[in-house]
Amino acid sequence: MTPDLMEQGAQRVQARQVALALHTGQTESGGRAAGFSRLNTPGEVDVTHGCILYLENVTVSFDGFKAIDQLSLDIAPGELRCIIGPNGAGKTTMMDIITGKTRPDSGMVFFGSTIDLLRYTEPQIAQLGIGRKFQKPTVFEQLTVFENLELALKTHKGVRASMFFRLDAAQRDRLAEVLLTIHLSADVARLAGTLSHGQKQWLEIGMLLMQDPKLLLLDEPVAGMTDEETERTAELFLSLKGKHSLLVIEHDMSFIDTISDIVTVLCDGSVLAQGTLAQVQADERVIEVYLGR
Ligand SMILES: Nc1ncnc2c1ncn2[C@@H]1O[C@H](COP(=O)(O)OP(=O)(O)OP(=O)(O)O)[C@@H](O)[C@H]1O
Ligand SMILES: [Mg+2]
Repeated sequence: MTPDLMEQGAQRVQARQVALALHTGQTESGGRAAGFSRLNTPGEVDVTHGCILYLENVTVSFDGFKAIDQLSLDIAPGELRCIIGPNGAGKTTMMDIITGKTRPDSGMVFFGSTIDLLRYTEPQIAQLGIGRKFQKPTVFEQLTVFENLELALKTHKGVRASMFFRLDAAQRDRLAEVLLTIHLSADVARLAGTLSHGQKQWLEIGMLLMQDPKLLLLDEPVAGMTDEETERTAELFLSLKGKHSLLVIEHDMSFIDTISDIVTVLCDGSVLAQGTLAQVQADERVIEVYLGR
């Protein structure tokens, strides 16, 4: 068989596995659940081990420099985990690895206990239910708030399907619910370009919520926001906790103080400390490398 054919075969196998994982939350082996006679809910991620996200001994080097170094971390379903740490600690790189943007050199990255994220591409990982918000808002400025949210439902469809796309009743309800959650119900007809920086950030979070992600990754979400916008964002995140799992990177300590349960401190690509904000703030090593004296 030529390498081309082998490659195509491998891609077909992987496409089948993605479809299977999307519909059942299981891999081809049937996963753990197969042995326990448990009923599967379509699209469900297997969190019976108490983890929605599990990283073990993940390492990635760029030109010999270890940006992530034997990183292990796990997140519980519905948890809101905050990640702090100095510039260059590897926080964003960690999100790049979870979302398939960067491949680690070694280690394990699992979504639930059965989905090996290292076997999926970036778009497939988004489809599996991991939404990512980058620091800069990337809404469509020439479209209204409504159109931006509507568009978020189309992103996984083909061109033809998108052309004939109409919201059904459940999707309309979802859109109205998301508008309430992100405090933009009164601005639904406004062009996104006319929104404030904070409102654009909320709209982008709303676009992620339209897909009903199981896990949301948010990189410095309140950077550049006013104090009032930051407070509202804290309320928003607290309202999302429990319904979704959230991983939030931030440098704003008062924001972290408002939203955090457990804080993980990253430094030199691995976990330096973990605990409540008060606990990590009292940790000498954290004071040394990040918070200052
Ligand atoms: N694609 C890449 N190629 C080369 N080096 C990279 C790449 N991505 C990240 N790095 C390096 O890896 C290290 C970790 O970067 P990363 O952006 O993850 O840090 P961070 O914790 O998010 O920092 P900040 O708080 O400043 O956002 C840095 O030294 C960065 O220069
Ligand atoms: Mg970063």
